[in-house]
Amino acid sequence: MAAAIIDGRRIAEEIRGELKESVRALKAQGVTPGLAVVLVGDDPASRSYVAGKEKACAEVGIHSFDNRLPASATQEELMGLVRKLNGDDRVHGILVQLPLPRGLNEAEVLLAIDPDKDVDGFHPINAGRMMLGQKAFLPCTPHGVLQLLRRSGVRLSGLHVVVIGRSNIVGKPLANMLIQKSELANATVTVCHTGTRDLAGFTRQADVVVAAAGRPNTLTADMIREGAVVIDVGVNRVEDATKKSGFRLVGDVDFQRVSEKASMITPVPGGVGPMTIAMLLYNTVEAAKTRCRAMRGGEGVAP
Ligand code: GUN
Repeated sequence: MAAAIIDGRRIAEEIRGELKESVRALKAQGVTPGLAVVLVGDDPASRSYVAGKEKACAEVGIHSFDNRLPASATQEELMGLVRKLNGDDRVHGILVQLPLPRGLNEAEVLLAIDPDKDVDGFHPINAGRMMLGQKAFLPCTPHGVLQLLRRSGVRLSGLHVVVIGRSNIVGKPLANMLIQKSELANATVTVCHTGTRDLAGFTRQADVVVAAAGRPNTLTADMIREGAVVIDVGVNRVEDATKKSGFRLVGDVDFQRVSEKASMITPVPGGVGPMTIAMLLYNTVEAAKTRCRAMRGGEGVAP
């Protein structure tokens, strides 16, 4: 039986709808949520992600501040920009688009972002809080994966989830979020990576497989059990002469074959991608709510 398609565009739209309401309530109290996006260099994929983020901000009523530096920018220039945004009261969230051009120290830049404005959830303080199960900004792609599953009716509690990939942006935080004793998670988790021997031996035991390896065809049909749920985080450009751009986007999963065996699957594009942006907007609104509460001396913000 063909798998049900998990429609990330529809679920992201649902979340943006919820956020519009929160933004309206914040504006009524004099606070317009603001997101500063920092793009260094002119990598085409990063430019396209940043454009998507700014468009989504506009749709829900978040003010986006566009900050561009040339690829030749120095570490000091970038650090100076981050410090300036830390001190700007109109800015509730700061996002530095990764990867940075060669020569720039990513860890130092992420450490310089005010943890209360770290809407990517990449600051070590937020990563630590999240790992300990404390309140924190959750990294957007893994949080988007959890929301996709929950809003598609998949309850993870007690299920075996196999994550392929151990990046700081997806694999590591996702594995940490999945093991939390929380409403959205409480799963049994296996993390596989390029050093894993017999990857298929692990993925065949999974109720849910999340592919986040950054390589096409990492997960093929022979590697899953009948009825597994498959989440594809990969976004890979492959050459395609029939496209005007000269390329098309594919995930990490052999979608055609795997969807004949899985019970549910995310497409690429239109699966996890839109959710990453939706959860970024969510974090920005949360940051603005926190600021609003602080301004009002601890009063709550509806809704
Ligand atoms: N590059 C790829 N994904 C992300 C993300 O979620 N946040 C940032 N800042 N850069 C990225």
